Amino acid sequence: MSKAEQIKNSIHQLVEEYHQLKFPQQEFVPGVSTIPVSGKLIDHNELIAITDAALDAWFTTGRFNSEFEKNLAKYIGVKHLITVNSGSSANLVAFSVLTASEHGEKAIKPGDEVITVAASFPTTINPIIQYGAIPVFLDVDIPTYEIKIEDLEKALSPKTKAVVIAHTMGNAFNLDAITAFCKKYGLWLMEDCCDALGTTYKGKHVGTFGDIATLSFYPAHHITMGEGGAVYLSNSKLKKIAESFRDWGRDCWCEPGKDNTCGKRFCQQCGDLPFGYDHKYIYSRSGFNLKITDMQAALGLAQLDKLQHFVNRRKENFEALKKGLKKWEHKLILPKATEHSDPSWFGFLITIRKDAGITRNELIEKLTEHKIGTRLLFAGDIRKQPYFKNVTYRNVGTFDNTELIVNQTFWVGVCPSINSSMVGFVVSVFDEIMAKY
Ligand SMILES: Cc1ncc(COP(=O)(O)O)c(C=O)c1O
Repeated sequence: MSKAEQIKNSIHQLVEEYHQLKFPQQEFVPGVSTIPVSGKLIDHNELIAITDAALDAWFTTGRFNSEFEKNLAKYIGVKHLITVNSGSSANLVAFSVLTASEHGEKAIKPGDEVITVAASFPTTINPIIQYGAIPVFLDVDIPTYEIKIEDLEKALSPKTKAVVIAHTMGNAFNLDAITAFCKKYGLWLMEDCCDALGTTYKGKHVGTFGDIATLSFYPAHHITMGEGGAVYLSNSKLKKIAESFRDWGRDCWCEPGKDNTCGKRFCQQCGDLPFGYDHKYIYSRSGFNLKITDMQAALGLAQLDKLQHFVNRRKENFEALKKGLKKWEHKLILPKATEHSDPSWFGFLITIRKDAGITRNELIEKLTEHKIGTRLLFAGDIRKQPYFKNVTYRNVGTFDNTELIVNQTFWVGVCPSINSSMVGFVVSVFDEIMAKY
């Protein structure tokens, strides 16, 4: 073993020791310890992985990223997966792919329409607006919180080009109905799976049904890179376009640090440039730079080892909450998996019935007093957000459930750092509060 490797091993040992001392296991004290809604769960392995990536002194996407992309693609069962620096960037890249001129008539252009839901996360919708397309909003069902299928046909117009929706809170939307609809009318389907890593529909991972899908690795999500995301798909032509949008819009597909992968670096006519202009500096689209560092990839790679355990823990916590809160179903609408879906839940959504006798703010305040974290369903109704004042959009059908979500819905955590004692405590606090109403 070289001296350098010996030092590296010592560093690993020190990092493990440091982790033990700096982040000792905390005992759960009911009412005193915080029960998070979400958050990372890491141990010394993640810190060692990041340290290793730093010691490589490579810094940009490198060996850790290649392994992460390969391993996660394999887990999902998809041909290609490319990392980006956030779930929002993943949505931007994925939507950009659908606008590429190579698609001819199918390319999404300004003024075209994209079917989506109003109860959503902003950056699922934002690329639609940023490209000058028109979001067409539908209501969702409760208690699945997924798109109202019966309104789909009504949403269609000669300008419709795509359906862009998230598997909200990890629950799969009706993929049979949506894929059939997209196929019938020749529409793109973009699946935002940022909340749904590990969710399957009829035994297949979500994100493998449509044309292109996205993930987020922000600490709230199923695995984390600190900041990070991914675009995944099985169509190799679309993958090349996605990479190009991610990497400055370049035509060249060389890995960082590599040259002349195409073998035609100095012998092509591109645009109006002189013949043989270096292919490394040829830009075929208006792109971005949304790549990650190899330290982020190393963190993600260490998290991948724990992914299935995390997914299982989320499912167990969800089931325990559902069982424990069942007695309050006359006051609280509890979440439900869509048919054929086996969700890797992001959180446990609760909608307070209008006649429950308690408001959302009252209930959240009481839970907060017991250190139980809560969140709302993202933007609620995106159309009511301040930035939407000047946005052009179209509504289809009624929005009774979206309205209910804005006023009555919130969620509590199911993340893997929540153990069974914590879930038991959450249920007992609900029992105490709800018994008074
Ligand atoms: C459905 C959905 N899409 C996109 C995002 C954006 O991901 P990021 O925070 O990594 O940008 C989120 C974030 O929570 C999300 O929930």
